[in-house]
Amino acid sequence: MIQTGSYAGADMTIVTLGEKDRAATGGCPVHAGADDRKAVPPAARAGDSRVVVDFAEARRVLRAGDETRQAGFGFELVDRFMPKANRPVLFEDGPAHQKQRSAIARFFAPKVVKTRYRDLMVSLTDELIEDFQRKGRAALDEISFELAVAVAAEIVGLTSSSRRGLARRLSRFLSIRLDRNAGWLPNLFSIARSQIYLVAFHFRDVRPAVRERRRVPREDVISHLLTQGYTPREIMMECVTYGAAGMATTREFIVMAAWHLVERPGLLARFLSTDEAGRMAILEEILRLEPVVGTIYRRTTAAFAGASPADASVPPGTLIAIDVRAANAGSAGACPHAIDPDRKPADERATGAVLSFGDGVHRCPGGSVALLESAIFLDSLLRVPGLRLSTPPRVTFNDLIASYELRRAIVECERV
Ligand code: HEM
Repeated sequence: MIQTGSYAGADMTIVTLGEKDRAATGGCPVHAGADDRKAVPPAARAGDSRVVVDFAEARRVLRAGDETRQAGFGFELVDRFMPKANRPVLFEDGPAHQKQRSAIARFFAPKVVKTRYRDLMVSLTDELIEDFQRKGRAALDEISFELAVAVAAEIVGLTSSSRRGLARRLSRFLSIRLDRNAGWLPNLFSIARSQIYLVAFHFRDVRPAVRERRRVPREDVISHLLTQGYTPREIMMECVTYGAAGMATTREFIVMAAWHLVERPGLLARFLSTDEAGRMAILEEILRLEPVVGTIYRRTTAAFAGASPADASVPPGTLIAIDVRAANAGSAGACPHAIDPDRKPADERATGAVLSFGDGVHRCPGGSVALLESAIFLDSLLRVPGLRLSTPPRVTFNDLIASYELRRAIVECERV
């Protein structure tokens, strides 16, 4: 189907592929051979891990229940230094994990997201866009982080300190990297800096929130953890996890989606002319192509049956690295590296963003929050008169989870 529309005064053609078009051309007539990806990490070092690239096998590993456990995001360090502590939900497994997930499910229920958090997303977006228009220039990764931090902070209960201060402290902490080629002195220096930022985050943001919720509990994660007897240190670890899993991921995704949309007038016109569900579907397709978490790790706890007869059993203790990009592409059908919101996946189970929000028991609970806030914010940003991405972001990769990081993306517009 071909539709026409206009955006910023220019006529646009929106092409929606029908079944007939696909069948007639033996695949994708528009994107043949296209590669729209902006962030392709250098080939992963497999090390001692077993890399899974096949969608069906990846799904099986993520849904394996007790036969595997979490092994990503520095889990093994946390396991060593917090062996007896209550751990963040991301690092729990088995019944303790199940209990936490059922308890926090109420903070992510679709109705709660649409009622409680939606208003906040809209008012924050208005505030951020107004500020941008007043200045005429902004670093997109900074405003997207402010939005992502404020929304996740509301869910977690980190609302007893200044929003900008919280974003600054978390951003500093999350930007610390250890460099295996740099020698021990610079790394020691980085560890010391990360501890200073963590202490600041604990005293300025976590402690005041805990104190207030001890007095008057609220409907948020911190209040829930207090009822479970978590110590302030354990609560801080949970907050850091939300910082990395919920805030940093959403920041990167918003910048990535904006970058794709400003460069594709047809897709942009379609994004702006469809409804919110349609916008979220386009965003899911972008996230399928550009997963923020590029590798998900698990370790087998028992002999795990391999996918093929030649690979009968994976021994216990094996580290499995799921290559999300490859699994998403392999299940996508025609032109897997093109953005096509109308795609018909080769595997009918590969819907939406496929494995970009994970799968199985650890599947991201915040996926619909991330998609909704991105849709609301981008809809508003992309309508700003005279909007342009004057400096595209610098792309780097965080080794640990093959996550892309997009920095110094400068957007400009007419000043009002
Ligand atoms: C585009 C944004 C996001 C992406 C790409 C993303 C991706 C993911 C992925 C892949 C996992 C699974 C990790 C694994 O299986 O090892 C995960 C888990 C998680 N995410 Fe997200 N996430 C996003 C936004 C959010 C938001 C907004 C929140 C909360 C406000 C959130 C909270 C969590 C939590 C708590 C977990 C751990 C769940 C568990 O282990 O049971 N995420 N996320």
